[in-house]
Amino acid sequence: MKIFIDTADPEEIRKYHDLGIIDGVTTNPTLATKVGRPYKEIVQEILAMVDGPVSLEVLGTAYDDIMREAHGLAALHKNVVVKVPMIPDGIKAVSHLSKEGIKTNVTLVFSPTQALLAAKVGATYVSPFVGRVDDISADGMELIAEIREIFDNGGYETNILSASDRTPRHVALAAMYGADVATVKPENIGKMFRHPLTDIGLEQFIKDFMESGQEALV
Ligand code: G3P
Repeated sequence: MKIFIDTADPEEIRKYHDLGIIDGVTTNPTLATKVGRPYKEIVQEILAMVDGPVSLEVLGTAYDDIMREAHGLAALHKNVVVKVPMIPDGIKAVSHLSKEGIKTNVTLVFSPTQALLAAKVGATYVSPFVGRVDDISADGMELIAEIREIFDNGGYETNILSASDRTPRHVALAAMYGADVATVKPENIGKMFRHPLTDIGLEQFIKDFMESGQEALV
């Protein structure tokens, strides 16, 4: 499973990109406003840094506006994936963009039928928001499992991109349930590294060796 980072903040992206674990980036209009820098500037930085898919979302909700924005965004860089909302005009736009070879990510997906419609029009990615499903006491991972089954049964090539993570556990479950990608918030990527037994074990190993009087090999 690929790991994307879910932020528009170039500094956060750089931190984890330098570790070699980031395959791509997802952004949304809310995330873009949180950085506190001009949107155009941060997008250029991200595109120059990450050699992988970068989802940039349209703001329009009418077909003509979505198409105009999609063409503009796709022209920015070969790695741009146009993020389009899961609404009828969005699906109509994705059906045309697919034929033009423009990569798309259908966002704000909360049901298997929404995912099916996105796949039918050739979306490159579909983004079920697992955390927001869990937030209303439903089961986000069940949604991933159902979409996986539907796509496998129908032979759809659309990638399932598990989004809206709440904990690192969502990332493990997304991989177990067959998501193609999990996009992960920076704070949860940090948490994926950590385990108290790793820290305790490492401290003990070093302490034992240092106290033994043995000489290190190198
Ligand atoms: O990728 C979608 C994600 O940014 C939404 O996350 O936490 O706002 O539900 P959240």
